[in-house]
Amino acid sequence: MSDNNGIAALVLGAGKGTRMKSNLPKVLQPILDRPMLYYILQAIRGAEIKNSAVVTGHKGSDVEEYLALHWKDCITIRQKEQLGTGHAVKISSSWWRNFSHIVILPGDVPLIGQKTLRRLVDTHLRDQNDCTFITFEPFDPAGYGRVIDSEGHVCIVEERDASTLQKQVRHVNSGIYIFRTSALINYIPSLSASNSQNEYYLTDLVSILSIAGKKVIPHHVENAIELSGINDPIQLSEATGLMKERILKVNMLRGVRIMDPASTFIGPDATLDHDVFIEPFVQIWGQSSIGKGSRIGSHSIISDSAIGENVEILSHVIIDQCTVDCNARLGPFAFIREGTEISSNSFVGKFVEIKKSSLGKGSKVPHLSYIGDATIGDETNIGAGTITCNFDGLEKHATRIGNRSFIGSDTIIVAPVTIEDETFTAAGSVITHDVPTGALAVSRSKQRNIEGWTQRKDRSRKRRK
Ligand code: UD1
Ligand code: MG
Repeated sequence: MSDNNGIAALVLGAGKGTRMKSNLPKVLQPILDRPMLYYILQAIRGAEIKNSAVVTGHKGSDVEEYLALHWKDCITIRQKEQLGTGHAVKISSSWWRNFSHIVILPGDVPLIGQKTLRRLVDTHLRDQNDCTFITFEPFDPAGYGRVIDSEGHVCIVEERDASTLQKQVRHVNSGIYIFRTSALINYIPSLSASNSQNEYYLTDLVSILSIAGKKVIPHHVENAIELSGINDPIQLSEATGLMKERILKVNMLRGVRIMDPASTFIGPDATLDHDVFIEPFVQIWGQSSIGKGSRIGSHSIISDSAIGENVEILSHVIIDQCTVDCNARLGPFAFIREGTEISSNSFVGKFVEIKKSSLGKGSKVPHLSYIGDATIGDETNIGAGTITCNFDGLEKHATRIGNRSFIGSDTIIVAPVTIEDETFTAAGSVITHDVPTGALAVSRSKQRNIEGWTQRKDRSRKRRK
């Protein structure tokens, strides 16, 4: 529809969220691995509303910090005192008056869909309304403002101010509106705080505009779930469950196989290709991607990592901020930490921790190793029990191991050190000096066999008796 640039969205997020009983501001309460506010801003973006602002207040600097980091285009407006939703809109007028229409949303409706929002905007523009607001019929209307339509005038009565008769109305206000800004700017000064909360209610503008003869239209939406307001931890966990289901369905429709949706968690920013197979109890968070044909074993947790195609991850593997290239095999019980790059066809096995390191193509770390701040070339084998001693108590040091090398079991590598291509280290060696290409490094005391020692020991024991 026309004039997309003349439309902006204002999210009200200054409230304390008292019913959450938490130190975290309400809009930053998490749903899966993202704050509630993220989902609202995603819906706004999905509805093709390009300009947005958030009203901050309670713990405002925390909210502003999140927005500056993740939503650079989003403006923030500070409401110093939280005098109500109407007040929040009023103090933002110098921003929204530059647009023709302003969509207003509360910061606590994370399940709102982009299509619902877009439909509201399109209906409002098509019908040339002055105010269009979403209404719905929740299972339990308690806590919501009731929509009263009488003698051609619409008004919203807050639960706290409603009469017993009005409380019986099931038709409620979602808190999502679109206003023609020229109408809003003229009538917002008429708001008063004469109600049970001594607050400026944005909802009062509906009746003010209606009485002034403006075109105020309730826009009824059937899907009540999308419009649920999240005010306490129980509602937050219900919304989390619904969001989780929604994301899993999107992935399954893309061709991802999820063995047990009930125990699987996938964050909203993760992208999984078709024919990825997810075993039970898997979590995939952040900006993770998983290529086609890969399998993720039970109890594995992947965050902010890029996993290539046909990667096989067995159970209990934790991968955080890493890349794993195609056909690699990992696990069970491996911890792949920040900044690690695992190349194609390589293998990381049981009880292995790797941090800020790269493992070349076809290389193996099959068992019980710690690899930190290391670069390992192609086709190299790291024997069981190998440890890179990267920390001297003050600083971290690097280890470099070349191609086609064989690090014997239980090698202790004291960094900084370079072990060149096609080298061997003898099992149990402590490597403190560089190893040149093609060399065998042995660093351990020579074995000495003391003949007949056991017999002599037994004889002396008998004598003592
Ligand atoms: C509000 C509506 C109610 C509607 C319901 C839908 C009003 C008066 N009531 O009630 O009709 O049915 O939403 O969920 O608007 N906020 C500010 N500054 C303030 C006060 C609030 O930014 O001074 C923000 C809050 O952070 C919140 C949003 O506005 O995100 C709504 O406030 P909330 O206290 O949740 O209002 P409800 O009681 O849910
Ligand atoms: Mg609310």
